[in-house]
Amino acid sequence: MKLLMMGPPGAGKGTQAKKIVDEYQLANISTGEMFRDSYRKKESLGLLAMEFIRDGHLVSDEITIEIVRRRLFANHVEKNFLLDGFPRTIAQAEALEEMLDVTGSKLDAVIQIVVSDAVILNRMVGRRSCSICGATYHIDYKPPHQDGVCDSCGGVLYQREDDKHESVKNRLDIYKEKTKPLIDYYESRGILFEVNGEKSFDAVYQAIKALLDERL
Ligand code: AP5
Ligand code: MG
Ligand code: ZN
Repeated sequence: MKLLMMGPPGAGKGTQAKKIVDEYQLANISTGEMFRDSYRKKESLGLLAMEFIRDGHLVSDEITIEIVRRRLFANHVEKNFLLDGFPRTIAQAEALEEMLDVTGSKLDAVIQIVVSDAVILNRMVGRRSCSICGATYHIDYKPPHQDGVCDSCGGVLYQREDDKHESVKNRLDIYKEKTKPLIDYYESRGILFEVNGEKSFDAVYQAIKALLDERL
């Protein structure tokens, strides 16, 4: 199964992706997580990427396509995966299609999580992320058992640098300009499915699961 999770920043892609990959045994490939992980390790890729991420800009297509190519095809060909946050531009979508063409495969479904701008801002401000495992919390909607500590691994929770107000605004603008056109791109291929992301965590999850079970 080859899936893609799309939606504006803060829509709940990462939150849902973690559950879906467990349920369907998929590799979880999030370009945002890959960049943040590389930054934590002080690698040159991560340090460079953070220059763009911090202010809410996109990392270049060239760099992003290359890290996905390596992740999908370097050691072994990944057959079952969920992409979260990639592709984000038409150029990236075309590159992905070419990569999959080479192996004679294609995406099975693209899940678009639909959420309004007002809900997004509220979710971003309250988000906290684990510095070790990347798990995501929300101070009101999904608080950790112990303040500032990750439930699953005990790591310290932090607020992402790009969750500042100005940066969130940039991310939303860039989403509308660069990433939203992908909705038409995948709709025209007949593999786009929309899910209302403003419901509860579990309701959103059940909606995604229902459409995957029906289709795949
Ligand atoms: P990335 O990490 O992908 O960020 P994003 O797209 O902005 O999305 P987020 O991770 O912020 O939100 P999410 O949808 O995962 O929501 P979450 O589940 O956390 O990318 C970061 C940056 O890296 C980009 O801006 C760019 O610079 C760079 N980058 C990455 N990929 C790139 C690419 N392909 N090309 C170029 N550059 C790239 O949920 C948000 C909050 O809401 C959480 O607190 C959560 O607990 C809460 N929440 C979730 N669901 C619910 C619910 N149903 N009810 C109540 N609260 C909820
Ligand atoms: Mg995310
Ligand atoms: Zn953790």
